[in-house]
Amino acid sequence: MNDIISVANLGRRFVTKRFLKKKEIFSAVRDVSFNVERGEIVGVVGESGCGKSTLARLLLRLLEPSKGTISFEGRDLASFSKGEMRQLRRKMQMVFQDPYSSIDPRFTVRNAVLEPYKVQGVSAGDTDKRVAELLNMVGLDASLANRYPHQLSGGQKQRVGIARALALNPSLIVLDEPTASLDVSVQAQIINLLDGLRRELGLTYIFISHDLNLVRYFCDRTIVMYAGRIVEMLPKYAAPSHPYTKMLMGSMFEPDPDNRREISNLTGEAPSGYNLPEGCAFASRCPFVKGLCLTEDPTLQHLQPEHQVACHYSKDISNERQAA
Ligand SMILES: Nc1ncnc2c1ncn2[C@@H]1O[C@H](COP(=O)(O)OP(=O)(O)OP(=O)(O)O)[C@@H](O)[C@H]1O
Ligand SMILES: [Mg+2]
Repeated sequence: MNDIISVANLGRRFVTKRFLKKKEIFSAVRDVSFNVERGEIVGVVGESGCGKSTLARLLLRLLEPSKGTISFEGRDLASFSKGEMRQLRRKMQMVFQDPYSSIDPRFTVRNAVLEPYKVQGVSAGDTDKRVAELLNMVGLDASLANRYPHQLSGGQKQRVGIARALALNPSLIVLDEPTASLDVSVQAQIINLLDGLRRELGLTYIFISHDLNLVRYFCDRTIVMYAGRIVEMLPKYAAPSHPYTKMLMGSMFEPDPDNRREISNLTGEAPSGYNLPEGCAFASRCPFVKGLCLTEDPTLQHLQPEHQVACHYSKDISNERQAA
């Protein structure tokens, strides 16, 4: 196996105190297991609050897991020394959704791109040359190096965000909704850029998005999350099997994460991580709910070697649909 990263039974709970209430436990990520092979693009998709960014932060060890293990190139991260962890941080990078807040407004493009070297305490070599190289890699003219973020367009800023992520020659980049704040034509340019960079530099991506259609177009495999868990994991051209995935395919989402809501056939809300039901977390919204759904939480089962689904009745639903 050529896994760059693999996670097993990963979980993260947050202890919170709501106004005038006792401490409560919020389960943001629950029992998540998957692997990513070198060179793959794996997409993670789901509605707002389903745990995508929490999962990204766990993978990069920006957040400690409450449960489970993460292995990088076959080694459990828990066994890494501080020095090894520091080295590893160069190999795993992140690109954030909002290029406006991820780049310090007081930094010029040059300083923004050189910051990872400062943080890691490593030399960039000939700095002017390296800045020009990195900007060229992301399709920006080296003359932009002395500009400040407010002098750049949204797409240019996201290119700077990508250049920063590339600075230390990573092998894995976690992209957390990198195109969500951009308009459609710029989004397409950034996707093309990411695709080209991956081929050229042999990168591996974990691509997080709320847009299932974009994820399926761009990614080799798709992980669908619901209320902190994986409900389906499917290869590029497989037909979705989980009712939630099917409904996501047919619905569109508001791109603005502060104002995100479904505007098509997916109604109702996901259960809160404070108060998860005993049975399937999707049962309250599922048009096919019956029997076991209310009493037993379904686990992921293989439909095909690379296709897993967590639904008691997904096979029956497909058969019923075909028969109809
Ligand atoms: N530090 C924290 N303390 C308490 N709860 C948290 C914390 N971080 C995240 N959460 C909760 O965990 C849940 C998952 O959050 P997360 O940011 O991972 O969702 P997401 O899928 O990335 O959503 P979005 O699409 O809006 O970015 C949310 O309900 C959030 O409020
Ligand atoms: Mg998020």
